[in-house]
Amino acid sequence: MEIWVDSADIGEVKRVHELGIVDGATTNPSLFAKQKSKDFKGVVKQIADIVNGPVSAEVVATDFEGMVRQAEIVSKIHKNVVVKIPCIPDGLKAVKYCSDNGIKTNYTLTFSANQILLAAKAGATYTNVFIGRLDDAGHSGMEVVREAMQILNNYKFETKLIAASTRHPLHIKEAALLGCHVATVPPALIEKLIKHPLTDAGLKQFLADWEKCGCKIE
Ligand code: E4P
Repeated sequence: MEIWVDSADIGEVKRVHELGIVDGATTNPSLFAKQKSKDFKGVVKQIADIVNGPVSAEVVATDFEGMVRQAEIVSKIHKNVVVKIPCIPDGLKAVKYCSDNGIKTNYTLTFSANQILLAAKAGATYTNVFIGRLDDAGHSGMEVVREAMQILNNYKFETKLIAASTRHPLHIKEAALLGCHVATVPPALIEKLIKHPLTDAGLKQFLADWEKCGCKIE
């Protein structure tokens, strides 16, 4: 499963990318609002240069012509940019247009198996299940991931599924067990995945015992 850092903060992206397990990045307008720069294209380009893999950047127009015009602009920022398009009727048409014109897309704000089926039929490169937001609304986000993966596999669609809006380590493990292709993960959660209390306790003990034995590695 690919791991994409969910952030528009260049410092954060750089920090987690240095771990060596980050395959890409995703941004959205709310993540842009959290960082200081107003240079949308510059930030996307810098993130793309750091991660050297897919970077999703979102259009904000909500009509077909506007989305397609913005998709053309966004897709030219960097060769690895994937254009994020919201799941509305004009968005679906825009995904089909992009797919027919060689622009990679990430069909976003998707919450149901039927939305994923349509994304795949329109030729989206990626689409999402916003797991945490579904859980927050009293649904099972992971159940939708299971249904979506079954639909994509049943018909051998090329569209890749992203486990988005991940909030805790179980989301990542369960998405990986279901064969989800990508997880977008906030930097703090990526760092949480490394940790285990038994690892910390075990290391502390090993280092204390090493001190006692007086050996050296040189
Ligand atoms: C995905 O495309 C979004 O950027 C992100 O995963 C949304 O996460 P949130 O629900 O925590 O805002």
